[in-house]
Amino acid sequence: MIRPARLALIVAGLAAAGVAVAQSAAPDRAIKYRQNVYSLVGWNFTAMSQMVRGQRDFDPAEFARRAERVAQLSLMLDEGFPPGSDRGARTEALPAIWSNRAGFDAKMADFQREAAALATIAKGGDADAAKAQFGKTAGTCKACHDQYKAD
Ligand code: HEC
Repeated sequence: MIRPARLALIVAGLAAAGVAVAQSAAPDRAIKYRQNVYSLVGWNFTAMSQMVRGQRDFDPAEFARRAERVAQLSLMLDEGFPPGSDRGARTEALPAIWSNRAGFDAKMADFQREAAALATIAKGGDADAAKAQFGKTAGTCKACHDQYKAD
């Protein structure tokens, strides 16, 4: 029979091992998390882009719904780049994100601000204003990718 003291040691050992596993997996999980969020951003943004370019009819309700999603998703990216997540699973995030954190955070803030404005304007139903703000928001994607994302 296992004595209680011995059992406590075993349990503590298992818990410590669990923590170690969780920590070593954390960077990979963060990378996966942000790539998934960006993938959702891209999915919605592409559909909006098709409407802006006239490849599909402009549907104001759908455009507003997608703009709202992108605005919400943009806020979720604040958690996507923890220290240490420059390594691990395959990532296109460049080391400059962590060596120039303030610069990266400013690009993220630009995106979040313009995406929020896009959601608000899209709700207003003025298609021309929405298209113009879409262009402005797209510019914030490119500005960050140029500096902080590998091709
Ligand atoms: C503040 C910086 C920043 C902004 C703003 C930004 N991105 Fe990115 N994006 C990145 C980085 C960094 C990656 C690479 C993530 C990785 O591989 O770990 C990425 C990856 C992606 C990916 C690939 C996701 C995948 O499947 O791996 C898509 C699609 C994408 N971004 C679209 C967009 C769109 C569309 C916008 C604007 C609406 C945008 N991004 C705004 C930095 C940014």
